[in-house]
Amino acid sequence: MKVQVDRRDALEAVADLTVSGVFERGERPEPLPRTLAGEDAAVKGAVREAWERREIRGRPREGGGELRGELSVFHRPDGGGRIVLVGLGPRAHYGAERARRAAAQVVKGLQGKGARTAAFRLPTFVAEGVAAEIAARALVDGAVLGAHEFTKYKSTTGGPIEEVSIHLGDELTGEEGSVRKAVAEEVTITETAVWTREIANLPADTATPERLAVEARALAKELGLKVTVFDEKALKEMHCGGILAVGSGSDHPPRMIVLEYAGGSRRGRTVAVVGKGITFDSGGISIKAALRMQDMKFDKSGAVAVLGILRAAALLKAAPKVVGVLCCAENLPGGGAYRPGDVLRTFGGKSIEVVNTDAEGRVVLADGLGYVVQHYRPDEVIDLATLTGAEVVALGDDTAGLVATDDRLAQGLLAASQATGEPLWRMPLTDYHRELVKSDIADVRNSIELTVAGMLTAAAFLETFVGSTPWAHVDIAGPAYTTPSTRKWQPAYQNVGATAFGVRTVTRYLLDLARS
Ligand code: BES
Ligand code: MN
Ligand code: ZN
Repeated sequence: MKVQVDRRDALEAVADLTVSGVFERGERPEPLPRTLAGEDAAVKGAVREAWERREIRGRPREGGGELRGELSVFHRPDGGGRIVLVGLGPRAHYGAERARRAAAQVVKGLQGKGARTAAFRLPTFVAEGVAAEIAARALVDGAVLGAHEFTKYKSTTGGPIEEVSIHLGDELTGEEGSVRKAVAEEVTITETAVWTREIANLPADTATPERLAVEARALAKELGLKVTVFDEKALKEMHCGGILAVGSGSDHPPRMIVLEYAGGSRRGRTVAVVGKGITFDSGGISIKAALRMQDMKFDKSGAVAVLGILRAAALLKAAPKVVGVLCCAENLPGGGAYRPGDVLRTFGGKSIEVVNTDAEGRVVLADGLGYVVQHYRPDEVIDLATLTGAEVVALGDDTAGLVATDDRLAQGLLAASQATGEPLWRMPLTDYHRELVKSDIADVRNSIELTVAGMLTAAAFLETFVGSTPWAHVDIAGPAYTTPSTRKWQPAYQNVGATAFGVRTVTRYLLDLARS
């Protein structure tokens, strides 16, 4: 999608859609002076009448149904384009997330209805606490993410909005510089999220571990990153017994992929970002039930998010050095598959007792985390993983679970999550959880006999391989993807399929790191 900032009023742009936000006020919407400035008398009359009849209320209709906010559409005479009013709810509840949803609402609601261009009147989305720059970023997020659909395998697709302009008008001309800068940065981040969704949505027959390596090599070439792909032979030499074991039941061999972005400043920190890249999780010998097993193609979402984070960091020249590690394997049953009872030796020499082959994410991450802390000695490590069903039970399918051994890192990620609207919630990690994952015959076991604190015993397991490096674990099992049934409870900018959760938040975190 093409996104522009325009200093003129939206009316002068002659776009197919002229879009304004409308706040709700009691039983009536707020008056519409800015929205209707410059419109001819007939158009004003039609809108006023709808307003008087309370057909326009400014409501963000919550819950149940594809579209959330109220959309009112008026046609100007003589093919002069359409006026679109989108409900923002009461001013008191307004924030960037409302603007994000409103923009998504517009591009989704009018998709396939002959509109190609949309001109947003930025002043109508600005309010107390939501400055022009913040509102503009939110409109970019909502429009770009809301317009994206995974259509690779569809023979027909329905006319999306292709061009969005954000209009300052007289009121905001003074903010032109900061809005342009914010929009340029946000377009890069959101388009990277779309790029990430395209890969994360690929089915497992296509997105094999080797295919993820091909994507990583192409990205590295394009952006001048360093890339290393460890194949089975290399993994054996390095004693990466975790990744090898999980991948051993599949004909698609496992890979560990390492990408390095050198960083924008020499004195900068080194941040390692590690992703779970299970290209399909059948559960292995501890096989899963059939219901919704197809969703387990999304079990690579953490690793694909790492690709996206490296892409955005490099394009935006973020200050810290970033090392990305993708732990990729396919978890299938088979004659060569690993089994319950096996004991594995991981990269750093620590051993794992396999209790359940479906707890495979932590097993591949054991090698990736161990490798990155020993080889790069990073200042901090962040991992992203669709790790546990328990995370979904605890926090739902919109929120990711955060476990961190460092408060500054946790606060930084939580602040970034506030800014991006990707919800994140911190959970505790205590000696109780550490005790639970101890094994009788190895250093650690990958599952326990009790169904308690599943997200946190998984985190305790991972901590074993990180050691004392400041570390944050982000379990994205819930928010990594939406299904047709969960989609309707999600914001309009989360389409069915991969969400690229984590890309926008971790990128925001990396960009803010230089300023703190
Ligand atoms: N990939 C799953 C976790 C998952 C579940 C992600 C639902 C997204 C939606 C993971 O590998 C898994 O199977 N975890 C098990 C661990 C258990 C065997 C200890 C789980 O959560 O049930
Ligand atoms: Mn599993
Ligand atoms: Zn898994």
